[in-house]
Amino acid sequence: MKVDILLGLQWGDEGKGKVVDVLTPKYDVVARFQGGPNAGHTLEFQNKKYVLRSIPSGIFQGNKVNIIGNGVVLDPALFKAEATALEASGHPLKNRLHISKKAHLIMPTHRILDAAYEAAKGDAKVGTTGKGIGPTYTDKVSRNGLRVGDILCDFEKKYAAAKARHEQILKSLNFEYDITELEKEWMAGIEYLKEFPLVDSEHEVNGYLREGKSVLCEGAQGTMLDIDFGSYPFVTSSNTVCAGACTGLGIAPNKIGDVYGIFKAYCTRVGAGPFPSELFDEVGDKICELGHEFGSVTGRKRRCGWIDLVALKYSVMINGVTKLIMMKSDVLDTFETIKACVAYKMNGEEIDYFPFDISEGVEPVYVELPGWQTDMTKMQSENEFPEEFNAYLSFLEEQLGVPIAIVSVGPDRAQTIERYQD
Ligand code: GDP
Ligand code: IMO
Ligand code: MG
Repeated sequence: MKVDILLGLQWGDEGKGKVVDVLTPKYDVVARFQGGPNAGHTLEFQNKKYVLRSIPSGIFQGNKVNIIGNGVVLDPALFKAEATALEASGHPLKNRLHISKKAHLIMPTHRILDAAYEAAKGDAKVGTTGKGIGPTYTDKVSRNGLRVGDILCDFEKKYAAAKARHEQILKSLNFEYDITELEKEWMAGIEYLKEFPLVDSEHEVNGYLREGKSVLCEGAQGTMLDIDFGSYPFVTSSNTVCAGACTGLGIAPNKIGDVYGIFKAYCTRVGAGPFPSELFDEVGDKICELGHEFGSVTGRKRRCGWIDLVALKYSVMINGVTKLIMMKSDVLDTFETIKACVAYKMNGEEIDYFPFDISEGVEPVYVELPGWQTDMTKMQSENEFPEEFNAYLSFLEEQLGVPIAIVSVGPDRAQTIERYQD
């Protein structure tokens, strides 16, 4: 068996959580491979709404095994809050949520360091989620990190050494903080973690594949936030791309099956950094309002703009996308015309490839398409799609060279239309 991977092609918040939930019945196992509680994956069904941060989005459909892979960074305090709330709402997790011993721990001092580094950057700050993601991955790469498996042996000593190192850095930055409450919750989280199966997830996942079981890998963030290929330095600190599933779960590249690339019918970004097709007018405000574009983790207003096909083509290439998923089509239901950025103008020249740096002097070149001006939110099948909507889909498929397999017409699980069923 091969694994399928679902990941974001834009700047995050494409709707990954919703679609992982929709696809879960087709799989035996769902696994997260990178990121941490910077993610906010929203799911809606039966008039209830859930926002998942560290827990994979495959926990609501059937009694499937869900895995937090080695590429994830985990904050035990936030994990405890998330998991206990889910259990209290009638979704038992204890025996079917497996956590890799190799996943790195986000310490209270990582969160404080995140804030301190952002403060030190002043106007150049990244606008992080403040969850300690960057400092935790920094410690992982510099070989100073603490892993989940460390909690099983001699943990206090390892924790004290790591904390002392962080405190020195914070002192050198003259950053004031109070760790008492954070640390108390964190230590309670460490004890809580021990109630879950702590596993060698690379063995487990490969074992499932050998047994013929199907695995869906769930990405967090999006390709434009990837540490290597995103709009650096305004990115997150992990590989959000397809290759991240290999390193974040221990899967060989030849075990990858379908790669689901997910995008919104338009584009959003939260936090600082370049966004060539961003809108600063009433059209942008309208998208924000109709799409309820406010961050699920930080509540920040998301910046909105038209779809950027230059960036999307790049994402499709980097990830080897085999199936596209278009989200939030309904948000554009009332628009008379819709624009799509098909090229950038840079230094007087028109380019259709994603360049090294998009931070300055990039002007979007748009084509305009007719809107469908039809309420799509109750549609059940592609046979009901208006002509103009089909034309938009065909235009995108032609530009991106990959079929759009799923269209989402609303936040609810049921508002999902599969095309090209195989
Ligand atoms: P993720 O981080 O990729 O899982 O996405 P988020 O959950 O952060 O953001 C997506 C938001 O859009 C959530 O509030 C979803 O409930 C909502 N959503 C998902 N699909 C659709 C859709 O097709 N239409 C509308 N209107 N909202 C959607
Ligand atoms: P999901 O999985 C959107 C952004 C932050 C910031 C940058 C770095 O819900 O799509 P970090 O805290 O990771 O160091 O912040 O990345 N960011 C996201 N934006 N969706 C996310 O996750 C994000 N996770 C991080 O806003 O600009
Ligand atoms: Mg999100």
